[in-house]
Amino acid sequence: MGENTFYVTTPIYYVNAKPHLGHAYTTLVVDTLTKFKRQRGIDSFFLTGTDEHGINIERAAQARGIPVRQHVDEVVGEFKTAFARLGVEYDRWIRTVDAHHEETVQNLWRVLDERGFIYKGSYEGWFCGYCNEFKDVESDTADPVCPIHERPLDRIAEESYFFKLSAFQQPLLDLYASRPEFVQPEVRRNEVISFVSGGLKDLSISRVSVKWGIPVPGDASHTIYVWFEALTNYISALGWGNDKYHDFDRYWPALHMVGKDILRFHAVYWPAFLMGAGIELPRTVFVHGMLLRGGQKMGKTLGNAIQLDVLHRYFSNDQIRYYLLREVAFGQDGEVTYQGLIDRSNSDLADGLGNLASRTLTMVRNYFGGIPPRPGKEDEGAAEVRRHIAESKKRFDAEFNALNFSRGLEAAWSGIARVDKFITDQQPWKLAKDPSNGPQLEQVLATAYEALRHLVLIVAPALPATSREIWSQMGLSGDPLLINPNETVWGEGINASKIERISPAFPKLDKDKIMTEIESETAPGADAGQQPAAEQPKATTSELTAPPAAQTIAIDDFIKVELRAATVLEAERVPKADKLLRLVIDVGEAQPRQILAGIAQHYAPEDVVGRKIIVVANLAPRKLRGLESNGMLLAASVGDDGRPVLATFGEDVPNGTRLK
Ligand code: MSP
Repeated sequence: MGENTFYVTTPIYYVNAKPHLGHAYTTLVVDTLTKFKRQRGIDSFFLTGTDEHGINIERAAQARGIPVRQHVDEVVGEFKTAFARLGVEYDRWIRTVDAHHEETVQNLWRVLDERGFIYKGSYEGWFCGYCNEFKDVESDTADPVCPIHERPLDRIAEESYFFKLSAFQQPLLDLYASRPEFVQPEVRRNEVISFVSGGLKDLSISRVSVKWGIPVPGDASHTIYVWFEALTNYISALGWGNDKYHDFDRYWPALHMVGKDILRFHAVYWPAFLMGAGIELPRTVFVHGMLLRGGQKMGKTLGNAIQLDVLHRYFSNDQIRYYLLREVAFGQDGEVTYQGLIDRSNSDLADGLGNLASRTLTMVRNYFGGIPPRPGKEDEGAAEVRRHIAESKKRFDAEFNALNFSRGLEAAWSGIARVDKFITDQQPWKLAKDPSNGPQLEQVLATAYEALRHLVLIVAPALPATSREIWSQMGLSGDPLLINPNETVWGEGINASKIERISPAFPKLDKDKIMTEIESETAPGADAGQQPAAEQPKATTSELTAPPAAQTIAIDDFIKVELRAATVLEAERVPKADKLLRLVIDVGEAQPRQILAGIAQHYAPEDVVGRKIIVVANLAPRKLRGLESNGMLLAASVGDDGRPVLATFGEDVPNGTRLK
């Protein structure tokens, strides 16, 4: 790769479910980063796509009762539409069913085989069909479940080809040591180093039990393990090992952006495959955190994802993109809520950038007939604004280059706040009352306008549609996304035409109204989740009841309550408290917890030991009779005397399982 090219990838997304905000997150970040690099004149290439083979996809198609190929084509269509709807502009979309991808995968296999890194053996282990991964399970565990998906693991024993991953332990450790930038951030790098230091077993890279996939060259009874081929997408898309494209020399090596859920695949297996094949390694694997809802990863498995169609009904693309970039520190997990999105849009966009643009342009129109005055002689106040904007720009660039998007935007918004303060201090509306203040008024508005011009260029990658809109309202020509802010000189190159049309760049959102509407469409029962709306049971309006409006809570409020399954391990009466039992319960955590329950008049300790109960697991600890209670159990309060009846399950549920 030349110095001046930039190749960035998202993971390729599984097509067993509809795209949701979690998928959109990585894609929007990568799109923003590509726009940022391109704006600075860097020859950039942005790859995304879909991971379409494997048992889960086959199962998803079976569940829909349609051929797999039809299923994947349809879901790929949904992903493409979803990303286009979000204003994502990728350069290439790779599908793992593409012929050139299959060719590359088989060629990579052949090279590794020729170099002696592949052998045939037999593998038996606990496999999670949702992770597509064998899991390390303690040998004495009965009925193990996947720690991520909390679903039973399958015991699989089969003939398999293996990749000699064990041979790469030292080379990988050398890689992490000699190139500290290879895995970022630091916390993930340490995680990988500790994993690899613990020893690497050879990796099973073929399955005889899976049919929907790419055959092993020379042994079609085996299908290549999905992760082996999925990772290869990053080079097949550029034309390594196939003749469809010829971009490998120009763009490789890549910056891979991935969620922390797939760290090991990218930071351990992938570089090992590449080393084995003698292919140059990626530049960096940058690992971001998860978007959370109610403290848990947003996704299909937990059914708690924010659906994109709901978002689009209430928010613009720029509001969504800005919120994600600004709210979540890139690299860390971050809770996302509709309320948060509304608040950020109102404070930072409508009241921040939007307000600065409309007040500046309105004054230029009112006091200067719409022709922006040029910066001329500058007093100290104006010079200070100019320097502040230059500083914001520098910080923004440094932070974006380091992938600290939130802090980069903070720097830009400090510039916005500075200009706002300048306008408020200078009070141009007062200056305008006395013609003798003409030169001062001119200076104030020239400074505000020029600052706005720079700020719009700076924020353009994060707000592509509105930056174009404000740019055009400013009477400026060209595309702000293609004008390098670092080559834009204060007071120079402003070829503005007359400002005619001024309209707010961001609407002020009515929080109560929007929240009420969102809640009514996403309330449990109304939430179509992963299923098409048509599959929901139908009822006529007269058959439906709704709780009285004053008593409803937002879904976001409900999600805050962490209800979990638990088992009572011990129980005893609390001395001098005839209602209380002290329970020790297993909530699926490393240590049991103590809770106090006011059920002693109706349940004897021996009645509850061994029972499966439901607890509020995230209740703040409280002290009762000098004992700490870490949670609360759920019971119905029956009859006039409020007799407690413990809530439980009709079938067995592992401890710690969340109720929603
Ligand atoms: N197909 C594999 C990746 C193969 S890459 C060679 C896969 N696909 S996935 O559909 O499950 O998507 C994984 C990626 O989607 C995550 O790594 C992350 O980038 C993004 N996200 C999915 N849910 C997410 C959140 N809740 N939060 C943030 N990102 C999320 O794994």
